[in-house]
Amino acid sequence: MTQDEMKKAAAEAALEYVESGMIVGIGTGSTANHFIDLLAGVKGKIDGTVASSIASAERLESHGIPVMDLNEAGQLSLYVDGADESDKHLNLIKGGGGALTREKIVAGASDKFVCIADETKLVDILGKFPLPVEVIPMARSYIAREIVKLGGQPELREGFTTDNGNIILDVHNLEIMEPVKMEDHFNSLPGVVTVGIFARRPADVLILGTPDGARVIS
Ligand code: A5P
Repeated sequence: MTQDEMKKAAAEAALEYVESGMIVGIGTGSTANHFIDLLAGVKGKIDGTVASSIASAERLESHGIPVMDLNEAGQLSLYVDGADESDKHLNLIKGGGGALTREKIVAGASDKFVCIADETKLVDILGKFPLPVEVIPMARSYIAREIVKLGGQPELREGFTTDNGNIILDVHNLEIMEPVKMEDHFNSLPGVVTVGIFARRPADVLILGTPDGARVIS
């Protein structure tokens, strides 16, 4: 089974969490795209969606699935999104697609966060995947120096602007032993919009696609 087929298997299993009348929060990335495509098959069941990126909103709309503004939708019962890494406590690294800020907002506004991923995303310690940090452009050099103080190696994501008009620094060589502490540290730096550590609000359920089907950790 390919990695993409495992992503699809996880997305299929997440459909079970979709209930009638829900407004569903939708993540970003190739695994979330599988979920969007599968959601199209049951679109009559839901009241609408809230998207975590322009790209996901466009894909939802291409299927005729209504996309709402989070301010109008209010508290969501369900958010479904992928991840770049997860530990067994369901702390995540996200933002490989650059949508981390909106993803963290929609996750925060949702009662249940179902994370879907292929089994290769499960790790013992977060940080092998370069940690994305969304930064206000004028703070780029300052935040890069702060990252070096932490022992990380910041790399500007070239040619990339977030949906919010900011830049991404991808941080290499960080071993994130204490995810909540590291998330709080980044959040305390002026100029950081969002760090891609999801530990203050981890996933509630992790569905891993494996060659033997979906494996659920909660
Ligand atoms: C998007 O910004 C990310 O947080 C994605 O959720 C993450 O990169 C997972 O992407 P894939 O589903 O494409 O692996």
